[in-house]
Order: sequence, then C-alpha cells, then structure tokens
Amino acid sequence: MLPPKPTTLDARSAAGLVRQWRRAVEPEALAAAYDALAAAGPLVPTPWGALLVTGYEECRQVLTGREWLTLGARWRDAHRPGWRESASTVGLCETPLQQDPPEHTARRRPLNAVLAPRVVREAAERLVEPLTERHVGEFAATVRRDGAADVVARVCRPLPTAVLAEMAGLPEWIDRGWLAAESAAMVRVEELAAPPSVVRRADAAALALLDAYDRALAERLRHPAGDLLSRWAAQDPAGARYLLLTLFSAGVPTTAALLAGTALALTADPALAERIRQEPGFAGPLTDELLRWDPPGRVVTRVTDADTELGGRPVPAGRVVHALIGAAHRDPERFAAPHVFDPDRPAQRLLAFGGGLHYCLGSHLARAQALAFARAFARELPGARAAAPPVRHAGPSMADIARLTIHSPLT
Ligand code: HEM
Repeated sequence: MLPPKPTTLDARSAAGLVRQWRRAVEPEALAAAYDALAAAGPLVPTPWGALLVTGYEECRQVLTGREWLTLGARWRDAHRPGWRESASTVGLCETPLQQDPPEHTARRRPLNAVLAPRVVREAAERLVEPLTERHVGEFAATVRRDGAADVVARVCRPLPTAVLAEMAGLPEWIDRGWLAAESAAMVRVEELAAPPSVVRRADAAALALLDAYDRALAERLRHPAGDLLSRWAAQDPAGARYLLLTLFSAGVPTTAALLAGTALALTADPALAERIRQEPGFAGPLTDELLRWDPPGRVVTRVTDADTELGGRPVPAGRVVHALIGAAHRDPERFAAPHVFDPDRPAQRLLAFGGGLHYCLGSHLARAQALAFARAFARELPGARAAAPPVRHAGPSMADIARLTIHSPLT
C-alpha cells in the first residue's frame, strides 16, 4: 500500500464541495462539481461519514474488487434500524443490485438466462425494432398534429416498458404507462438522502408494483401461457415477484434516461441527426458518448468488508463509499478533453453499466433500444428541436429527464 498522501482538505471545505455536488442539476453544474471534488483529492469525506470517489481507476476498483459489498439487508440490519419499514428499500434489497453472494448468485441466474446476448439479439429483431418504429412514428404524428409533445412521457418511458413487458409476457391489464411511472418513482428512493415525501411515494409504488406482479403470477400459475411469467411463477413462486421488480426497476428508468439524453442531443445539434441519417452506424459511437457524458446511474454505493486502499489512501473496513461514475467519466487521466462532447473520441471502457459481479445484465438490450431509437428519431423527426429546456429531477445520483417537449419545423 502506498503511504497516505498529505491532504489539506478540512471537514468544512469538504462539506461545501459535497453540498455543491448534491445541489447540481444541470450537467454543466455537475461537471464543475466533479472537477472541484477531483481537485480536492481521490477521496472526499462526506458529512455522513462516507467517502466520495471521483477517479476512473478508483471507481473501477470499487466496482470490481471482491472486498466491496452492497448496502444490502445484512448491512442495513446492523446499521439502519427501522429500514424494513420502507417497502421500496426492502424490495430493492431483494434484487441482485443490493445482494452479495450467495443470495446474489441465486437471484442473478434466472435474469442472466433471459438477458443473454443471444436472447437479446432475437428480441431486438422481434420486439425492439417494431416497437421503436411504432412509438417514434406515433410520436412524430402527434408532433405534426399538435405542434409539440413530450418525448419522455410518450416514448422514452413507455418504449423500454413495452419491450420488457413483451419479453416477460406481462398481462395487458397492467397498464404500461402506470408501470413505467411507478418503476421510476420506486427507484428514486436510491437518491442520496431522499426526502421523506420521495421515500413515501417510492414505498407506495413498491407495494403497488408487487401487488400487480403477485396477481399476474398467480394468474399464470392457474393458467400457464408458455411465457417467461408462467415459467418464473412455476419455478420460483417466492422469488418471481422480485425478478419482475428487478427487470422493470433496473431496466426502465435507466433506459428511459438514455433515450431522453439521445433525444436531447439530436434536438440540440441537428448535425448529429443528419449524420445518423447518412451513416446509421454513427448511432453506436453517439450512444457511447452519451453514456460517458451523463451515465443514467451516476453513483454506485458500496462498503468495504476489509481494510483496503483507494487512490493511495487507506480505507478501513466498514467504510461506505460512493463511486461517482459520472465523475470517473470526466477523469482527464482516462478521457482526453473530458468536458468536450465528442462522439468521435476513441472507444474506451466505460463504467456506465458498472463492472465486476454486478455488471449490468441489460446492457445489450439497453444499447439495442438506444440505437433503434436514435435512428428512428433522426429519420421521423428531421429538424426537430426542444421547445423548452428539459425538466430534470433534482439529485446527483440519477440522470433523469422528467420532461422534454419537442417541436418540429415541419409542423
Ligand atoms: C442505459 C440503460 C442502463 C444502464 C445505464 C444500466 C446501468 C447499470 C449499472 C451501473 C449497474 C450496476 C449497479 C451496481 O454495480 O450496483 C446495473 C446493474 C443491473 N442492470 Fe442495468 N442498466 C441499464 C439498463 C438495464 C436494463 C434494460 C436491464 C434489464 C432489463 C438492466 C438490468 C440490470 C440488472 C438485473 C442489474 C443487476 C446486476 C447485478 O447486480 O448482478 N439494466 N445496471
């Protein structure tokens, strides 16, 4: 282990930097906060006793090192008395995202089978392409008819919901718009120090979602339909509700954020849309740069179960760290001119889909949707512009555009 580097950061200055970061909403303010944190050192202490990690290499270590565990049920039982009163937190602790082996291995396995690259390639052709064509085509028609419309409510959220609902075989009576909104509301409990109103809304969403999943699973147990839902209902009666909760809570808000970021980029710079029309393959590097620029999940939180070291500094067992993936993607030691949006930059390994044991199972599906969406949007909405700046949710942990109203010069 390297000797600890001297630090001049006192607790008050650190608290100021953490406050600046937590208040940042616009990407520019966030980037300035990342720079200020990175300049203060590889590890910045927070007023609640955790450490913020900003460097690419240090974040990668937190994601991949075996000593870094989730803040799952075991940790919460020891450190957060009363946490089981929050239904959304309890629900999330039943997903692999908040589990460590051996529970993690068992819960991840059935999801792995459903989201394997071969299955997703087939789903991309059978579901993603046609559903994207339909959603974007209908959206373009609405914009032509009404002059303007919100792409988040009409496409970015319903599209990934519809894809997953079809893959799972979810019954029609579960309204897709409702499912998207509840899944988004539920994961907002993950925002750092979420206010009580957000937690209450998340808890209500978790209870309503689990109730809908239970009813759908019971229906399939009585009348199997040869779909994934029927299979999960029969194979894992107790766990199936959490597999569904994982699919929709991990898959919808994140993909929706990526699609909204894509729409924002294509409307902010029509040259990008023109290039996709000329060169459809450009949707790939554009998506990668969007994932670097503002990854949908900006923070991954872990706790170390052994004394370790990060960025040349000792980190004692039991210390909680927040790995700021968004900041890691602006690390100049890894990305040249990190604050320049450049889809032509050389391909680099990103942390947007995590790393190690918890590496995102839906990365192929999410990318397939982003590519299909970028191409359809560029084709169906040439010259489209944002009618107003996007409405963003507050909080530094998730890139989540709540509303983006689009209008088109053709209307
Ligand atoms: C742009 C879209 C997406 C992004 C940026 C994203 C990002 C991530 C990240 C960063 C992690 C790791 C979290 C951690 O280490 O704590 C993760 C895990 C996961 N993601 Fe995604 N995700 C996306 C889409 C999806 C989709 C579409 C699905 C499934 C339908 C999905 C399913 C999962 C699952 C099941 C895990 C947990 C894996 C585990 O803990 O073993 N994700 N995702």
